[in-house]
Order: sequence, then structure tokens, then C-alpha cells
Amino acid sequence: MRSRAEAEPAVRVDRLTVEHHREPLGIGEAAPRLTWATVAGAGWTQGGYEIAVDRGGRTTTGWVEGGESVLVAWPGAPLRSRERVEVSVRVRGKDGSTSDWSAPTAVEAGLLSPEDWTAVPVGPGPGTPPDGVWLLRREFDVRGDVVAARLYLTAHGVAEAEVNGAAVGEDVLAPGWTSYVHRLQYATHDVTALLRPGANVLGIRLADGWYRGLVGFDGGTREVYGDRVAVLCQLELHHADGTTAVVASGPDGWSAAPAPTSSASFYAGERHDARSDDRSWSTPGTPTGSWRPARDVSPRDPGTLVAPEGPPVRCTQEVEPVSVTPLEPGTFLLDFGQNLVGRLRLRVQGPRGTLVRLRHAEVLQDGRLCTRPLRGAPSVDEYVLAGGGPEQWEPRFTLHGFRYAEVSGWPGGLAPGAVTARVQHTDMERTGWFECSDPLVTRLHENVVWSMRGNFVHLPTDCPQRDERLGWTGDIQVFAPTAAFLYDCTGMLRSWLRDLAAEQLPDGTVPWYVPYVPGGPIWSPPRPGAVWGDAAVLTPWDLFERAGDRQVLVDQYDSACAWVDLVTRLAGPGRVWDQGFQLGDWLDPAAPPEDPTASVTDPHLVATAYFARSTDHLARTAEAIGRPEDAARYGALAAEVRAAFRSRYVTAEGRMTSDTQTAHALAICFDLLLPEHREPAGTRLAHLVRSSGNRIATGFAGTPLVTEALTRTGQVPTAYDLLLCAELPSWLYTVRQGGTTIWERWDSLLPDGSVNPGDMTSFNHYALGAVADWLHRTVAGLAPAEPGYRRVLFQPQPGGGLTWARARHRSPYGEVAIEWHWTDGRLDVEVEVPTGATGTVQLPLQAPREIGPGRHRLTADVPPDWADR
Ligand code: BGC
Repeated sequence: MRSRAEAEPAVRVDRLTVEHHREPLGIGEAAPRLTWATVAGAGWTQGGYEIAVDRGGRTTTGWVEGGESVLVAWPGAPLRSRERVEVSVRVRGKDGSTSDWSAPTAVEAGLLSPEDWTAVPVGPGPGTPPDGVWLLRREFDVRGDVVAARLYLTAHGVAEAEVNGAAVGEDVLAPGWTSYVHRLQYATHDVTALLRPGANVLGIRLADGWYRGLVGFDGGTREVYGDRVAVLCQLELHHADGTTAVVASGPDGWSAAPAPTSSASFYAGERHDARSDDRSWSTPGTPTGSWRPARDVSPRDPGTLVAPEGPPVRCTQEVEPVSVTPLEPGTFLLDFGQNLVGRLRLRVQGPRGTLVRLRHAEVLQDGRLCTRPLRGAPSVDEYVLAGGGPEQWEPRFTLHGFRYAEVSGWPGGLAPGAVTARVQHTDMERTGWFECSDPLVTRLHENVVWSMRGNFVHLPTDCPQRDERLGWTGDIQVFAPTAAFLYDCTGMLRSWLRDLAAEQLPDGTVPWYVPYVPGGPIWSPPRPGAVWGDAAVLTPWDLFERAGDRQVLVDQYDSACAWVDLVTRLAGPGRVWDQGFQLGDWLDPAAPPEDPTASVTDPHLVATAYFARSTDHLARTAEAIGRPEDAARYGALAAEVRAAFRSRYVTAEGRMTSDTQTAHALAICFDLLLPEHREPAGTRLAHLVRSSGNRIATGFAGTPLVTEALTRTGQVPTAYDLLLCAELPSWLYTVRQGGTTIWERWDSLLPDGSVNPGDMTSFNHYALGAVADWLHRTVAGLAPAEPGYRRVLFQPQPGGGLTWARARHRSPYGEVAIEWHWTDGRLDVEVEVPTGATGTVQLPLQAPREIGPGRHRLTADVPPDWADR
């Protein structure tokens, strides 16, 4: 306790985090890096820090000189497998002031070496029916005083564990989907509190999941990874006397029985018959049901087991219906007011044997669910009541994308709270917010957030509802800057990038989607395609820029080089990538609905522009990780590609050969033009936008760039006109049509309210929401000027009649924020810079100003028409 006379220190360590973990339990890094954010008065600068690690005896680094606070190297000896330590830090200012020690953060290593695994996969064996769900159980004795118990759990399939009838953790669809052949994630759970002296039971529910179930297109492909589901787990009991007992999956003592859930599949949905529920199946004794010895199945190389780098999928929100419409007796139409991804939880009471059916859809047509866009994913859950009292049920091994649900077979009336939507996604920490005076733009931003939530489910997917749900590389490539602002997704995307590298073909080809599954003649075998394959270079860079993690660049470097080297070979000495199949400006609104690749912009122009972009970023990457020779080589190559781009795709007068929004946006944003052609290109782009009535005319390649290109060439008013247009096609058209997520097509819903008849009509696709990055950086005016926001650029470019905007982001250094109000020719701006960072403020018509940590108020005279001059 501090005595009254002692004042609180003027500086305090606000949070201490470990790598990119939300909860550092069972981590895979033996020497995890540490990040802390400090809260101090304006002008305070860190002059040094001291890290203490308590490994049963406390050691400290002593004072280390320096201002570092982000991803600081682990002090001292690496962690051993299972080792649990407590870490704290204190900081000292250049002015000599010191903070208290931060509250200790517990860090626990997982199983770091293949030798730690004695478990082998065990399951129901071969020949089991598809989509079946299994219960596996193992009884064991607890002898002596257990001081800590850990369950290391993974599966060929998806699994949930129980110990003595109690659920272990809240993870959903664990272990998620990785490139299973190369990497299978295991989770670590603290189960100490669930054990009791004497007889105990470890129970596992196991379903096909991605391993054996249907994944991919056209209804999906089965058994992509194997035909036998299995659990792989190791329960380790640490006793007070220092001894350890291990209960591992394997040939001994495990039995298996079919679960009352007779089928579970991502696409079809789940069916559960509560009449055969035996709630005691995971408690000691003899459970009911047809149990038989479980079998040793498909071996697993423990060298492929990895600890997760990001958080698990969990329920993050519950949403009640905003309306319930009775359709016929026992049948109700529910509107949750928000297109979301998750499952319905029922609270129901009725006669035994009553079948309640749940159907899901993103949209209605003629007052009924429109399920056509779901294609081969019927998304129907069924529950058969046990009867005899209130019952509660939620599917476990499926996920649906929906705003509406039809509930049929419901006994009696549907009371409030009877059917609740539970939102599920990777449980990343929210880090970014944006709002402005135009409610439609604010809603657009909210739609982007929801589409991110719906598609960050273990991996970044294109869509969550139909028979696809794949890790399309192009979609995340364009969306990553937005994603990294909104949520701390570095851990999750880092892990996915390792899968990308693992699945890259020997010649450097990046699959269209990762993990790869067979997908018909266009996608299988994978072929190199621009925009999509460029994720290998550009997405690591985005994470470096936003999260400040240089190691991502190091880890992905070979993969990035392999991609650029491949494109270099494909382009040949001419440096123009003009051969082969390209998706180009995919889903250009002018392309015929049945051929989204038929964009107005030459696909090879897009490909060559991206070749230049990736080569340039690879040069920067090489520079950032200390490979100057590579940097010079790729830098020179990038210059050659830019020159080749100009001679092929830019006329002598500086016109693009494809006179389109996308071609101009690419050329401007990727710096492909001669200096004298930049401004004319901007003028031409503005002309193209105006002559289309301010409607958007871009697909996946152009959309993230078009407002940025206008901004960079002094056409800010046109950028706002484009943003604020509400006619088809435009961002705000989708909002005006009632969209609550970002759509795949600009016209997923047609003006008459009917659903686009195209085969690909998702209402939850984040790619076209990449404009949110421009909202953050330009409308609000908050951008990283140095990796990890160590220096922040505050450069609001007001326009479009907006009177205020604000954004904030929790950077590795702490919160960065801006808010501006623009009235009567006066722009009032308030910004916040966290300790350890600095800022540059660039207000219209003013010289840039450097600022330090703290809150700052600034004012500028900005006449209403400033941008038009
Ligand atoms: C997906 C995408 C993807 C595209 C590539 C679509 O089916 O939904 O968003 O990037 O195919 O062609």
C-alpha cells in the first residue's frame, strides 16, 4: 500500500502483452517478445526499462537503456515446455521518473517439442458414416493433490472437450482450419478446477469439420484430409509432490459411441435428437448408448503440431430478434436486424419428439427466406425435443451466415429470449473505431466491421454462408490494411500466412485460396494470378506496417521472393505479365454477371501493375530485414517493371490504354507514372468518375484504391462524391438498400429489392469494404507513418459536406486518436499520441507540425471550398 504522503508515480505501465496473444497460455514461442504501453504525462519519454521474470525465483534484466517498448526480445533463458512464469516490467523516463512494476502477466509455454507428445490419434475407426458426431471418453483416477492440470487438445476433425460433465473452455470449431498436412494447431486448457479426487472422465465430442467433412465449392468435397476423424489429446496432471500423471489419447482405455447429434456439417447444418441425450456421458460410471473401444487411427507426426498464434473462435455477442412474424401455426420468421455469422440457441419446452427446424438466410424475397444464394449449403438445423421440461440447445459443429431465420415445428408461442443468435468468430480484440457526421457513411463502416467479424473465423474467408468459405488470397490482400486497423488480427493472419507459404507450389505459385482444396478446372491445380498471389508479399508488409512486427517479414521472406521470382519468369525480359489466366479487376460492375473476370480494365494491365507493386514492396521488405543486396536487386527490377508498364499501358500523352477508374487508380497508387503524368491521370480519373455520375466502376482490384488515387492527385472532392453517391453501383447504394454487411457484388440486391440472380451473390464479403482504410486514413485522418504507429500521420482531408469525423486505434504503443469538427471555415482538430510515439499533423493549407505524446488541440482556417482550389 502506498502511504498518503507518497504520490502516484507520474508514469505507469498500462498493459503488457506477449507476442500477439490475447491469453498467453500454451504458447508456442520459447522466447516470446514483449510489448508494453505506458501512460505518462505529456513530454515523458522512456529512457530505459527493466523486465522481471518470475520462474519460481525472480530475475530481472536490470535497467536497460532505450526507448523500445514494442516486441522487445525475451530476456534470459528460453521457456521450457509447460513452463509457467510471471513477467512484469517497469520503465524509467529520461527525466529520471520511474513507474511501479506492472501487474504480473502469466505466460505459459505449450508443448514445444515433438517429444513432449505421447498421445496418438484415437477415434471411432474406419467406415463411419459421413457427417457423424462421436463421443469419446476415457475414465481415469486422480490420486493425490493436483496443483495444476492441462489439457492439450487437437483433432482430425473438430472437437470439444468435457471433464466430469463440465465444458472445457468456450472454443468453437477447434482446432480451426490450417494447412493440416503441414500444421495442425492444438489448444491448451487449464482444467485444474474440473478435476476431483478418485474417478474422473475426459470426454470429447468429435465431428468431421474441415478434415473429413464437405469443404469448398459445388456442394463441397469430402475427405480432403482423410476418412477417419480422431482426437489427439494429452491431459497432464501435476501433483503437489512434483509427480505428473498423463492421460493421453491412444489405444488404452478410450471408448467411442455415436452422439445424439446424428449429423453435423458446415453446409448442411446439424441435427440433434435430445431423446438420446445422456448428460452423464462424460462423468464416471457406465454411460448409456452403444459404446465400443475406440481405435488407433491415422498417425500424426507430432512435429506438425503447433500452438495457436491468434485467439480461438468463440461466441462474442448474443443478438435477439428485432421482429418475430408468425407465418403459420408453429412457424415464425425471425429478423435479427443484422446479417451475422453464428448459430441460433433455442430455449424451448414441449412434448417429447417434437421436431424444431431452423432455416437461415441473409435476405428475404417476397417475405420469405431467400436461400438460393446459399447454393449447396442448405443450412438447416434440427432439434428433437426430449420433453419433460425446459431445454436449451445450440448446434456445436456448424456455422451459418444469416440475418433471418425461419423456425418451424415450434411448440406454442415464441417468447422473448426463446431464440437468440450467437455471433461466433475469431475472438480478436477490437482495436479500431470510426464515425462521422454522415450516418450512412458511419453505417457503411459498421457494415465493414460486421463483414470482418463474419469472415475471420480461424482463417480469413471470402464469405461465410454458401458452399465456399475459403481463404481467398485476393480478398484478404485488399482488406488486410482495414482489418489490421479494426481488430488485432496479427496473430491470426501470421498463422494463415505460414499456411500460404506451406501451400505455395515449388515454382512459387500461390493457390487462389489457402488452405487449398480441389475446386474444379479453373482453380485446380492452382495457377498464378495477380492480386491473389500478391498476398504473399503485400499482406506481410501490411502487418509490419500496422503492427510493427518485422519478424513477419523475416518469416515470410522466402515465400514473398518465390512469388516475385515466379512472376519475373512469367513476364520474361519484357517485364510485362501479359500471359495466362487472370481474374483481373474481378467483379467489375460492368462485367456480365455470368463472367466476373470480363472486366473493362485489361487484366494484364492489372497483373503488371501488381507485379511492379509487389516487386517494389519486396525491395522494401529486403531493406527492412537487413538484406541490402536483395533490396537493390528488387528495387532495380521494380523500376524496370514500372517502365515496362508505362511503355505498354500508358500513351505518350499519359493516358491509360484502359481508360478506366481501375487502371488510373492502380497507376497512381502504385507510383507507376512519370511525374508529369500524375496530375493529368488524376484529372482523367476524376473525369471518369464524374462522367459515370459519381458511380463506382471498379472491382476487387480498383475498389480499395480509387478514393486514395483521387486524394493523392488533389481530387479530394471527387473522392467524396464517389464515397457519397448512393446510386447503383456505389457503397452507399448497399447501405440505402438496407445492407448491414458488405456485399460481394455492388448489386447483390437489385434496385427493385430482388436478389441478384447470379450464382455468386453473397451478402457478406469484406473485399469491397477495403474503402474503410481510406475512411480511417483520409476522412478521419489517422495513419501509421512508421511501422506500428511509432510515428502517426494525422492528415484529415475533410470534404463531402461532413462536419465532423473521428477515429481511434489501439496501436502497440497505446491509443492513437483524432477528432475534427469543421464549421464556418474553421477546422478544429484534437489528436492523441501515446507515450513512445510521435506525430505529424498535416492540416489543410498549413505546414506540417511535429508533435509528441499527449492530447493536442489544433485549429486551421479551412474555407468550405478548400479542396476545389
Ligand atoms: C470468391 C471470392 C474470390 C473469387 C475469385 C469467388 O467465388 O467468393 O471472393 O476472390 O471467387 O475468383
